[in-house]
Amino acid sequence: MSLVREMRKVYRKIADRSILQRIGSYEQIDGWLEKSEAAALCRLASRVSGRAAGTAGANILEIGCWKGKSTYCLASGLREGRVYVIDPFDAAGEVESRDIYAKQKGQRPLVEEFKENMQSRGVLGKIDILQGYSQAFVGKVPELDLLFIDGDHSQEGCAFDFENFSPRVKVGGYLLFHDFDAKRPEVGPTFVVQNKVLPSGKLRTTVCITGCEK
Ligand SMILES: C[S@@+](CC[C@H](N)C(=O)[O-])C[C@H]1O[C@@H](n2cnc3c(N)ncnc32)[C@H](O)[C@@H]1O
Repeated sequence: MSLVREMRKVYRKIADRSILQRIGSYEQIDGWLEKSEAAALCRLASRVSGRAAGTAGANILEIGCWKGKSTYCLASGLREGRVYVIDPFDAAGEVESRDIYAKQKGQRPLVEEFKENMQSRGVLGKIDILQGYSQAFVGKVPELDLLFIDGDHSQEGCAFDFENFSPRVKVGGYLLFHDFDAKRPEVGPTFVVQNKVLPSGKLRTTVCITGCEK
């Protein structure tokens, strides 16, 4: 590895540590997010709001927010703008995830828990909740600076979200997928990234935060 790359890695580690200190309470929200992923979401949200300075702010869309773990990281990084979240809040999801969602759902309505998690951390005012399946919101979201896809993880569901929402991402914006795993080419996000996103030739740079090891 080159010295420049090595230094970038060290710098990123130091920067991530300070981000994680600031947004540390994300860890108390139930969900699925590694430390490096939490820091990356916050860092990229901060970057797009920096670029949108002097305008109404940046627009972020998250498809699949559960109880708000990743939403909080995005909203913490965003200085000016909106975070739109799409989720049915019904713990149904694709077949493979249903048992996990049922076990982790808890007693309270998911949407209430989501709102309370965001309110108690001071970011609810930046968030617009679009309750329902992503199919219901095609053509109804603004142009995006950042799109984070973490909803239906089946190949069809993930492809649907990529095909219908990525055209809303501005040139120079970010397209993020959760649960890419190079060892599991059959899972939705891996399948979509490898068979649809990369061959589309529309990305300038690809970065893998976790799960990229073969
Ligand atoms: C893995 S969870 C999201 C986790 C969350 N991003 C986090 O970091 O904690 C997936 C979410 O996607 C939602 N979901 C499933 N199918 C969806 C669809 N078609 N449209 C929008 N959301 C969907 C589920 O309700 C669930 O809350």
